[in-house]
Amino acid sequence: MKTVLTADELHAGVRRIAAQINAHYQNQPLTTIGILTGSVILLADLIRLIEMPLRVGVLQARSYHGATTLRGELTIYDELMPDITDRDVLLVDDIFDTGHTLHQVIQRMQDLNPRSIKSLVLLRKKGRQEVDMEPDFVGFEIPDQFVVGYGLDYQDEYRNLPYLAALEESDLR
Ligand code: IMP
Ligand code: MG
Repeated sequence: MKTVLTADELHAGVRRIAAQINAHYQNQPLTTIGILTGSVILLADLIRLIEMPLRVGVLQARSYHGATTLRGELTIYDELMPDITDRDVLLVDDIFDTGHTLHQVIQRMQDLNPRSIKSLVLLRKKGRQEVDMEPDFVGFEIPDQFVVGYGLDYQDEYRNLPYLAALEESDLR
């Protein structure tokens, strides 16, 4: 495995986006919604740097690529989400890859009539985007490689690494 971003670099990036969030929303109450499971570490670090009145919720988004499902078909589990009607909502995800996850979650959230909805991702992979939308806040742009750590997994492992690493051929199974 090859380190892409150290723990210190990640934390500097989170401080940078938190400052942008604080400046953007000023003292307006905010509802952050983390997309499970990849966003848990980011969400925990980020919300402790947010200064306005804050509500925190989560939802799970899972895409299935089985033989009978379409590519990019997403199931959204929102039972753990607070009411977002008339609220300023900030969706938080680990990585913007093709963009389908965030795009579909935002479309679904619109039906619940939030006051506003914006999105934040720690990472954005270059040259992979397939949707016509941009995340509003981005921590880091990274090259097109598979990364793990700081919440991101490979087959449900490595989320606990405090740094971000790119998997190499010998790490795959
Ligand atoms: P998208 O819908 O293609 O933007 O993919 C977003 C989801 O795919 C993320 O929330 C991650 O769970 C997963 N993903 C995409 N790229 C990576 C990666 O390099 N490492 C780990 N997970 C990834
Ligand atoms: Mg994932």
